[in-house]
Amino acid sequence: MSSAKGSNLILIGFMGSGKSSVARILAKESGHLWVDTDSLLELREGMSVAQIFEQHKEEGFRALERELAFQMRHSLQESIISTGGGMPLFCDLSSLGKLFFLDLPFEAILERLSKEERAKRPLLNDLSKAKALFNQRRSSYLHLANHTLQADQSPLKVAQEILSLL
Ligand code: S3P
Repeated sequence: MSSAKGSNLILIGFMGSGKSSVARILAKESGHLWVDTDSLLELREGMSVAQIFEQHKEEGFRALERELAFQMRHSLQESIISTGGGMPLFCDLSSLGKLFFLDLPFEAILERLSKEERAKRPLLNDLSKAKALFNQRRSSYLHLANHTLQADQSPLKVAQEILSLL
């Protein structure tokens, strides 16, 4: 990877598509820093994503994401960034690096997520709304991404495919 700004590797996709698992492997394989935007916001705010949604509503959460995107643009290079599912829709991430979309059907996503994992994600509370959100977002992810990966394989395979594209 080059060392120019904007050289980060950014994973985007719907909730439960495997962004964090793939990012963890990529960071291990490449030796680069891994930043998970949800985890970073939780750490900073001292509360879970669900609590942020509860206290500040989705609007407040998006404002925090935008602030973080701005800060990452000025501080990160050569990092592996796993993003919250809505982040690329609400923040301009294109100047931060290359965007890799992990594409997985909605039904497969639901199968993957345990009850506990679903409960952490307020936008999955209502499954018919979540399905509509998925359909609406998928075309945006496809449009925004530099590369689209089929994510119905192991995180290791997806990570290897990404590495082969660099
Ligand atoms: C969201 C996805 C979540 C988290 C928040 C909102 C979204 O992250 O940022 O619940 O809008 O799709 P994951 O994609 O890691 O689940």
